[in-house]
Amino acid sequence: MKRVREFRDKSIMGGGQEKIDAQRKKGKLWVRERLEKLLDPDSFTEFQWMVTHRSKYFGLDKTVFYNDGVITGFGKIDGRNVYVYAQDFTVLGGSIGEAHGLKIAKTIEQAIQNGFPVIGLYDSGGARIQEGVASLNGCGRIFYANVKASGVIPQIAVILGPCAGAASYSPALMDFVIMVKSSYMFITGPEVVKAATGVDVSFEELGGAEKHGSISGVAHFVASDEESAFMLVRKLLSFLPNNNSEDPPYIPSDDPVNRRNDELYEVVPTDPTKPFDVRDVIRTIVDDGDFLEVHELYAPSAVVGFARLGGYTIGIVANQPAVNAGVIDIDASNKIARFVRFCDSFNIPIITLVDTPGFMPGVDQEHGGIIRHGAKILHAYSEATVPKITLIMRKAYGGAYIAMGSQSLGSDVNIAWPTAEIAVMGPEGAVRILYRREIDSSANPQQVVEQKLKEYREVFANPYRAAELGYVDDIIDPADTRHVLYKHLQILKFKREEHAMYLPRKHSNIPL
Ligand code: HXC
Repeated sequence: MKRVREFRDKSIMGGGQEKIDAQRKKGKLWVRERLEKLLDPDSFTEFQWMVTHRSKYFGLDKTVFYNDGVITGFGKIDGRNVYVYAQDFTVLGGSIGEAHGLKIAKTIEQAIQNGFPVIGLYDSGGARIQEGVASLNGCGRIFYANVKASGVIPQIAVILGPCAGAASYSPALMDFVIMVKSSYMFITGPEVVKAATGVDVSFEELGGAEKHGSISGVAHFVASDEESAFMLVRKLLSFLPNNNSEDPPYIPSDDPVNRRNDELYEVVPTDPTKPFDVRDVIRTIVDDGDFLEVHELYAPSAVVGFARLGGYTIGIVANQPAVNAGVIDIDASNKIARFVRFCDSFNIPIITLVDTPGFMPGVDQEHGGIIRHGAKILHAYSEATVPKITLIMRKAYGGAYIAMGSQSLGSDVNIAWPTAEIAVMGPEGAVRILYRREIDSSANPQQVVEQKLKEYREVFANPYRAAELGYVDDIIDPADTRHVLYKHLQILKFKREEHAMYLPRKHSNIPL
């Protein structure tokens, strides 16, 4: 065993004390400290710690690093099994050599086989340059494993330093990306950008956490530091099942399921033109006001995230009237569609809260493909077989009415508040189209507009037509929202997922 211990000591120290100190100087934790902080105490079991690279070019023949720059194994988080891999920047900048890539791929394969979530800690300069095509194969094997795992086990990436080139496509293939503030991700770095475009840009400007959290949408969460990132992993996992054949954990609370939501009378203005923050509605309805928002900074006219109702995990999709009146633009379409598909993959019922004037008008939106991107929401809701409950709070106009979990797309229950307005389009636009000639030829056009608006509102600016036609199943007092949603949820958990949509086929063809 003495010999083994010697190997083991070498393996533990990765790139050596000097590099570990340099890592600390940059304000980053040493990889083994990260694992300690992420996992329950003494729960980590490491495997493949003796693996080394096989390359002999560019001086690599003279260097042997046990572990090849990534620590792999399994452990526990809040008593539940997880697989984990953590890149070690002290070894050749955490770069992905072939052996490094194969170790990560094996970890993911094990997680799939045994049905547990996988968590990847990223801190890497990308494909290891000295290994040439072999390193690309290592990267490719990781991607292949990530795709195999997709929809089978939850995959969470935590970005703790650079995540460059090929390293960045693995998180992109996973379910959730958490970036610490100081980290950055890019496909091509500042030097390549400068050579290709002449533009000088810093790492932060190019791919810092705030950019990926708010503009690109690559990051679902931005954490202030490493410890908060690990806390976030715990929190996120608490809502998720181990794999797609299990239900999420049931975590009851003391919050009564029939608690009235009288606050909603204050939160939601009856004037449909007045904004409100839909997150206040969500917090009022769910257990203990506990809502984990996903993609908080990205596409803020939509809000998505996890909460519990009567102890059961729910995925919430909502329009956000506080931002552009809750309009659905290209980014919001992607955000919603991806979240709906995640929930559907992992048996998480979806509750949709609607207040939107529709899809975003504009040349840039049309040219950017709002038709193609908006269609993703239609596709995602239609194919989702988990329980789907929709609450129309105020405006539900046009295509957005259909897209946001309408009965037409197979939702199970559609509920409305008395303030709901369901129509092909908003009153102002509709009246001007329907009565243009009458308005133009009138001596008092404003009077005609107002008269027609009144008539239109009486007919459509309410939930009654939709309820008469059976598209809305119930019109409820907002104060009863929590209780009503809970009652539907607890019966719908028995829903059988066989679906006419699932005739034999390889897979659907979502408009990507
Ligand atoms: C081999 C690498 C490496 C890499 C970094 N290192 N990246 N070794 N292959 N890809 C090594 C450095 O040589 C250095 O070794 C050590 O890691 C630490 O790097 P530093 O540069 O000193 O650290 P820092 O200043 O923190 O900068 C980190 C960095 C920078 C931003 C990641 O190293 C960098 O820009 N690396 C290249 C990033 C990149 O362009 N990757 C793409 C690779 S191609 P010593 O011995 O001095 O400690 C790729 C395929 C493309 O991934 C696929 C596209 C999809």
